[in-house]
Order: sequence, then C-alpha cells, then structure tokens
Amino acid sequence: MKYIIAVIQPDRLDEVLKLLTEKEINLVTVSNVVGRGRQKGIAEVYRGHKEQGSLLKKVKLEIAVNEEFVEPTVEAITEGARTGQIGDGKIFIIDLPECIRIRTGEKGGKAIG
Ligand SMILES: Nc1ncnc2c1ncn2[C@@H]1O[C@H](COP(=O)(O)OP(=O)(O)OP(=O)(O)O)[C@@H](O)[C@H]1O
Ligand SMILES: [Mg+2]
Repeated sequence: MKYIIAVIQPDRLDEVLKLLTEKEINLVTVSNVVGRGRQKGIAEVYRGHKEQGSLLKKVKLEIAVNEEFVEPTVEAITEGARTGQIGDGKIFIIDLPECIRIRTGEKGGKAIG
C-alpha cells in the first residue's frame, strides 16, 4: 500500500477530483494549506493565491491506495493539476504499512478502498 500526498493549486481541485473519480479513486482527504516551493512564494503571486508573507494558499490531497492504484492516482493528479506554470504542485509517495477500518476492524488492502 502507498500513501500519496499531493499539494496542488486550489483552482485545479475540481478537475483532479473529476479525473480521480473517472478512475474509481473515490476515497480522499482534502485540506486547505499554505506552503512555498523553490521560488519561496515570490514569483507566483500573479496566480492569485497569495496568503501571508512568503506562503501561498494550496490544497493538499491525501489518498491511501493499493499498489495497482498508484499509477492511475498519479496520472489523474498530474493531468488535472498541470498547467505548465510554476507552482503547479508536487506529489509525494510514502510506503504505507497498515490501514484499519475502524467500524469493522478490517485491515490492509481490504480496509483501504
Ligand atoms: N520539498 C517540499 N517539501 C514540502 N512541501 C513542498 C516541497 N516542495 C513543494 N512543496 C509544497 O508544494 C507546493 C507547491 O510546490 P511547487 O509546485 O511550487 O514546487 P516547486 O518545487 O517550486 O516547483 P515549480 O518550480 O514548478 O514551482 C508548495 O507551496 C509547498 O506547499
Ligand atoms: Mg514553485
């Protein structure tokens, strides 16, 4: 299992969610966050998401998936979030040792989707 974390532009969220849904990736956590990339927040202000100081408004997606869904998840996020401009975002992929559905006690791949 993998835990996929993506930080994207807020105005790309709807498109990313649409593409994820098309690939039957439905379970997701979404947070409003602030952050900065390698331009240190300076050059992206024109995109209209400036927050405070050097930090810009972003959206963070967290998706836990079985291995066969890693590639489609990355594809959907990349396709939905890419404009070619700086600040399009980044995807981080972490090994996920365990997942437990609280209601049933199911574990691992059974609990994840
Ligand atoms: N190495 C990192 N560690 C933690 N968060 C990061 C990292 N890189 C990017 N982020 C988060 O992702 C957001 C978007 O990053 P961004 O797309 O600007 O990356 P970048 O490396 O500057 O690439 P680009 O040159 O395309 O802008 C940042 O505002 C920050 O919240
Ligand atoms: Mg950047």
